[in-house]
Amino acid sequence: MAEGRRLLVAGNWKMNGTRAMVAEYAAGLEAVSGVQLVIVPPTIYLADMALALDGSPISFGAQDVHTQAAGAFTGDVAAGMVAEIGAQWAIVGHSERRAYHGESDELVADKLVAALEAGLEPMVCLGESLSQREAGEAEATVGRQLRSIAQRAGAESLSQAVIAYEPIWAIGTGVTATPEQADDMHRVIRNVLDDLGVPADTMTLLYGGSVNADNAADIFAGENIDGALVGGASLKSDSLVAIARALAAAKHA
Ligand code: PGA
Repeated sequence: MAEGRRLLVAGNWKMNGTRAMVAEYAAGLEAVSGVQLVIVPPTIYLADMALALDGSPISFGAQDVHTQAAGAFTGDVAAGMVAEIGAQWAIVGHSERRAYHGESDELVADKLVAALEAGLEPMVCLGESLSQREAGEAEATVGRQLRSIAQRAGAESLSQAVIAYEPIWAIGTGVTATPEQADDMHRVIRNVLDDLGVPADTMTLLYGGSVNADNAADIFAGENIDGALVGGASLKSDSLVAIARALAAAKHA
C-alpha cells in the first residue's frame, strides 16, 4: 500500500528481454539508498525475476493486469496471479496499452482497483499526445484522464497509486519533456489530485519518456517529480542504477 511520497525508479522492459537476461540483469542491479527500484519485465519472466531478486530490496511488477480476478479471458493475467509470484507492482494504463489495445480511462480505473484488491501497488500512466500538446490541450487532457479514473475508481483508490506522467510524444522518441514542462505538469497533477480530495502532497509522481542516465538529473531537479518510469534505458541494469543514483543525488536522499 502507498506509504506517502517516495523516490522511485521503475524499469519497464516492455516486450524485450530473454529468460537468460533476467538473472544477468538482476546480478547487475545495485540498491540505491533512499530510492525504491522496481523492475517490470514481461509477465512470462516474473517468476524468474522473483527468484533472481529473492532477498533483495529491489522489487518487481507486471506491465499490465486484467480487471477480473479469474475467468474466461484467454491470454490475460489476473492481478492475483502476479501477486502470487511475489510481485508488488502493476503498471496500468500505459499509453501503449491505450493505443494498441484500446484501453479507456474506465478500464484503467478497473485495473487500478483490481491491482489494489490483489495487494499490488498500481502505477497509473497518464499523458497527452503531440497533437494535444500542440493544440494547447496537454493540461486539460491529463486532468480529464485523472478525473475519469478518480470518478470510476474513487479518490481513495487513486490515493493508493503511484502516478506516472508520460507524454506520448516523449516515449521512445529520444525527445524528453523539458524539465519545466515535466515539472509544470506534475504540479498540475498535484492540483487536480487536491481538487479530487486526494492528499496530493503524499502522492509519488513519476515522469516517463526518454529518461536516461544523461538527462535524469535535469528532470529530477523538478520539485514535483519523485522519480521516473524508464523504458529503453532500463534494458541495461547499470543505466537504470545510474538513473536511480541521479534521483538520490537530486533529492539529497
Ligand atoms: P522510454 O519509455 O523511456 O523508452 O521513452 C518510457 C515508458 O514508456 O514508460
